[in-house]
Amino acid sequence: MKTIAVIGSGTMGSGIAQVALMHQCKVFLYDISENALQKAKNLLEQTLFKLVEKNKITEQQKNTYLQNIFYITTLEDIKTADLVIEAIVENLSIKKQTFKEIENRVSSECIIATNTSSLSVHSMIRELKYPQRFLGIHFFNPAPLMPLVEVIPTLLTDTSIVQQSLDLLHNWGKTTVIAKDTPGFIVNRIARPFYSEALRIYDEGVADIPTIDWVMKNIGGFKMGPFELMDLIGHDVNYVVTETVWKQMYYDPKYKPSHSQKILLDAGLLGKKTGRGFYDYSKPLPTEPTIKDNSLHHKIFIRILSMLINEAADALYYNIASKEDIEIAMQKGVNYPKGLLHWADELGLNTIYNELQSLYEYYQEDRYRPSVLLKKKINKQEKFFE
Ligand code: NAI
Repeated sequence: MKTIAVIGSGTMGSGIAQVALMHQCKVFLYDISENALQKAKNLLEQTLFKLVEKNKITEQQKNTYLQNIFYITTLEDIKTADLVIEAIVENLSIKKQTFKEIENRVSSECIIATNTSSLSVHSMIRELKYPQRFLGIHFFNPAPLMPLVEVIPTLLTDTSIVQQSLDLLHNWGKTTVIAKDTPGFIVNRIARPFYSEALRIYDEGVADIPTIDWVMKNIGGFKMGPFELMDLIGHDVNYVVTETVWKQMYYDPKYKPSHSQKILLDAGLLGKKTGRGFYDYSKPLPTEPTIKDNSLHHKIFIRILSMLINEAADALYYNIASKEDIEIAMQKGVNYPKGLLHWADELGLNTIYNELQSLYEYYQEDRYRPSVLLKKKINKQEKFFE
């Protein structure tokens, strides 16, 4: 039986602990806050209870899981861990201090991973004693339900450590992709235009929020529209990810945030969880587009999709991940109806390129520059997948 230590028992840590526990691991869940640990304990017990009620697990399994988890407030207890996953507050100096304390306790073979979503994994390794056993293992929220995990090795991570991590995650039923340590990794980078281009269209007054959401759901086949989804994720999370990626990409205009979202964050209108974001949740959400104009609908859809495809193409061009992993990541990490590169092949690379090029010429903004990879593929008359 593997022993896993999860550091931080908040949203992500408690979810990761549940996944490990339900796959025959012994789990130590650590937090500096007793209150957070108690909350995590209550949540886990309720979740397991519900799973028994739904006949997803037996009473005996529930009891075994509950016996195999230890809620701890001292790191002394993690010394037997085979893998430590850190999911504490997103603050580099606090994380680095925590890794120092972890390294002083665990064996030299123990794998140490960070679940960071926006910090560079390399920024955490400089003071490590054994950086070769350190990597990023990035789960999606909610961890027990979302199949995708991005694995982010550093320049110093041993290949055997990457393989052991992949094997373990596969045992946990997860789908893994390997990402280069760059801002947003795969999913949080490629998904940016879904929000930012929708915001741009809204900011320009091309269409209103219900129309844009309707288009992306009904023409695009996305489960949620961009505004609904931003409201669900919460503007405290979604805006901050956008701003972080933008800053870390040296202010590339492709990733520029929107004031329309910033003011919601400033006002504490964080979305569904506060009852008000782009939508007012005391009323039913609109189900029909305000503007009923098929050619406008098509323009909105192709504009947002082209920007998404451009981002996927650029991620491939810059070797952020393999083309297969880029496709898997967007379908399993954010439930996109199709892989973006396959979608490009289906619509024709020329269609996407022409859309981007005409936006680029019209706006005279670097934001719309087509990926060099699209150009190369078109010149060679190639598709992404043959
Ligand atoms: P959270 O705020 O729900 O939980 C963080 C927990 O860490 C809290 O319980 C807090 O008491 C604890 N903590 C703070 N400092 C600590 C320390 N020095 N030692 C031990 N525990 C400490 O945060 P959340 O959302 O779970 O995020 C955790 C990490 O996971 C962050 O790095 C975040 O970027 C990443 N992440 C978050 C996702 C999300 O959707 N919320 C998705 C994927 C990654």
